[in-house]
Amino acid sequence: MTVWGAAAVDEAVAGGAGVVHVGTRDVVTPLARERARELGVEIVVGSPAPPSAAARGARPAAPAQVRPLPDPAAVSARLGSAPRPVRPPSGALYRRGAPTGRSSRRSSAPPGRGAPGGRVGRVVVVGAGNVGMIAAMRLADADAFDEVVLVDIDEGRAAGIALDLTHTAALSGFTTRVRGVGTVEEAGRADYVVLTAGRPRTPGMSRSDLIATNAEIVGDVASRLARTSPDAVLVVVTNPLDEMTQHAWVSSGFPAQRVVGMAGVLDTARFQALASLAGAGPAEVVGAWALGSHGEEMVVPLSQATADGRPILERVGPADLDATVDRTRGSGAEVVGLLRSGSAFMAPGTSAARMVLAMVADRGEVMPAAVLADGSYGIRDVYVGLPARLGRGGVQGIVELDLRPAELAALREAAERIRERLGALAATPT
Ligand code: NAI
Ligand code: 2OP
Repeated sequence: MTVWGAAAVDEAVAGGAGVVHVGTRDVVTPLARERARELGVEIVVGSPAPPSAAARGARPAAPAQVRPLPDPAAVSARLGSAPRPVRPPSGALYRRGAPTGRSSRRSSAPPGRGAPGGRVGRVVVVGAGNVGMIAAMRLADADAFDEVVLVDIDEGRAAGIALDLTHTAALSGFTTRVRGVGTVEEAGRADYVVLTAGRPRTPGMSRSDLIATNAEIVGDVASRLARTSPDAVLVVVTNPLDEMTQHAWVSSGFPAQRVVGMAGVLDTARFQALASLAGAGPAEVVGAWALGSHGEEMVVPLSQATADGRPILERVGPADLDATVDRTRGSGAEVVGLLRSGSAFMAPGTSAARMVLAMVADRGEVMPAAVLADGSYGIRDVYVGLPARLGRGGVQGIVELDLRPAELAALREAAERIRERLGALAATPT
């Protein structure tokens, strides 16, 4: 497998290429895709022509592999510690949608406006709180869905935000319908669901403090979604993220390919922003992966961190880089401390929408995401943050980076901690 960075696209263009051929198992970085868009070069997947060594991007020099996810039924049977379904409160869906065609210089910008091959039907955003509201706005702005539906137990809030968002249609130039309702049943059959329903953190509260409360909400919503939207791809946002994603997978009965958690995209964006502040250059030129858990066991493997395709250590010294990783890990709490009420929502909502739009665009983009580990990295049968290739049907495979032994050990440790917390959740009386 080859990892294509922006430099590889530049090289191909300098060599006169109008089309860049990449292998089906290659990783094309977001920055490389953005550069190709800027230069008007097409990236074609599946060409038999292998890229030359000189055309490789600087990012992971690694013999990475992509594996399909394991058979969900077999994994489910193996999961003794899976949390059992919990009592339902009421459900809420909220959907919105769309990949964008607009040009942006940012590597994390959504794919272009309008879904390739036409619009995708409906995206439902469950939980019309702060994160859901921003996710809905980004999805509507992208104009890739027929309909975005917000669902909240506070139906008036869902309807109010939907109407407010509808009022921006001319300003933002979208034709996507936006609705707000009180239940996932009223939302109708969804193609994609962003699940943000739950309680956010308050000062002094860890993500894990939320586990019992949010497990009830997530379990209920996921099992109801399985009935109303049996073919949907579910993007979980509710905290504690890794545990809630696995809980949603178990409660929905969906194949693991169709249940994915959003945290790595957010944590990576935070690292990019903070590395920029530390002197790495614009955030968009920083390449990195935030893996492991969405919490204390977050792993940002510095062996994979780059700035303009070069090792990031050429721009930011080791001490500043370590401080940047620490601040990334604590960014959620830092925002909570400043807000004093509620937690971050601008970057989280944008990140969730970004994942949905990447799936709708179906370009095989590789993003950090909470996925069911399949034996890659020596981890199996637990949801943890790993690089995942995303497509219309959800997770297409896990990408293996060439991590250093200490980075690999940290990733495995993160998976074990998540597994322990899931075990504790399973043992909690409901
Ligand atoms: P919020 O409190 O603003 O919104 C949550 C909404 O969920 C509320 O409007 C509430 O009425 C609704 N809700 C509760 N139970 C429901 C149900 N059964 N059905 C439908 N709606 C229901 O919270 P915010 O800030 O939007 O955060 C949402 C969740 O996302 C929290 O768990 C938070 O910790 C998590 N989060 C996760 C991040 C990540 O990176 N994975 C980042 C930021 C937040
Ligand atoms: C965050 O990282 C609270 O998980 C949330 O902002």
